[in-house]
Amino acid sequence: MADLFDYSTPRRTIYGLNSVGKLKDELGNLNKNILYITYKNNGQYMPFHLKILDILKSTSNKIFVFDEVEPEPSIQNVDKAAKYARKNNIEIIVAVGGGSVIDLGKAVSILLTNPGSIREYQMGEKELKNKGIDIIAIPSTAGTGAEATKVAVITNKEEKIKKSILHPYLVPYLVILDPNLTRTLPPKLTSLTGIDALSHSIEAYTSSLEIPFAKATALKSIELIGNNLVKCYRNPDNLDARMGMLIASYLGGMSLIASVGAAHRLAQPISSETGLSHSEAVSVVLINVMKINREYCKEKFRDIASALGIDICKMDLDSASKAAINKVEEIYKNLEIKSSFSNYNVSADKFFSIIKNVNRTTSHLIYNPRPLNDEILQNILEMSK
Ligand SMILES: [Fe+2]
Repeated sequence: MADLFDYSTPRRTIYGLNSVGKLKDELGNLNKNILYITYKNNGQYMPFHLKILDILKSTSNKIFVFDEVEPEPSIQNVDKAAKYARKNNIEIIVAVGGGSVIDLGKAVSILLTNPGSIREYQMGEKELKNKGIDIIAIPSTAGTGAEATKVAVITNKEEKIKKSILHPYLVPYLVILDPNLTRTLPPKLTSLTGIDALSHSIEAYTSSLEIPFAKATALKSIELIGNNLVKCYRNPDNLDARMGMLIASYLGGMSLIASVGAAHRLAQPISSETGLSHSEAVSVVLINVMKINREYCKEKFRDIASALGIDICKMDLDSASKAAINKVEEIYKNLEIKSSFSNYNVSADKFFSIIKNVNRTTSHLIYNPRPLNDEILQNILEMSK
């Protein structure tokens, strides 16, 4: 008999070209106090923001905007947005952006019904007692999968850590996946966020936590990434490929219920200690994590190779499992990803503090197929120099 399991997913998902138009039907004419959360690119909104704001304005004359979201938002950033939302009696949140925007939106939604600072919930000082207000998540990157998860990653500057808050109340109630929003994503961000999605799905698929929902969503996500990521990089206007990547990212986010492995165990501490973005940190270590794990999950690596389009029929298990790594290396090459610390001017003297940070923040991530210890993590970092 399986252990008791609680799987939270968004209540509704709408996807397709121009699907943001469905916001109008969703919000009707209820004239709700809506908080639009996003960030500005070089002080400007992308054109799709103006289109979405127009749609919102047709449903309500009480639209409030918070557009100061920081990358990997800090406690102060979340609390500032929550203060603004509380003051304006916000009833529904529409978060449009990458993982940082959606995570901040999710955190604000629970702070509207639970007192205090997000820090208290992050540090386990307070318990979330009330369900948050409704949040609609509309990703404009295809990678984090934040729209599908019950997780918000918040930077705690005082403790010098990035730490996740996990709770079913953090799952958005509606997700809209519209490839028009990722069309303008620069190639570098397209590739790095795509590798983050690939990492979620590979780590969830190879996780020792055997959850069928996770395995199914992860494998389909890997297949979609294999079919679409390089196409998006080479032709940003390929909307079919953009759609494929948005679904892949969402499915990758869903698969995270099976937890993540060594790449994500290291990614948050690497970012905190070096300033690399989350997807940069993941992309530096992913292939080496696959290399240290392969012996422990060859069958799963064979499945990954097959999902990535390799004909494994005539291969023995060892070759098929190696083919998964080779294929990911080929994808990196096609995406022109620089995958070592030296490309980011991060020297090996940071490794000690990264490992120390792992032990303070992400050591609870215990489902990597190969049991981890400091020495193995150090090896991964050394291999990624
Ligand atoms: Fe990630």
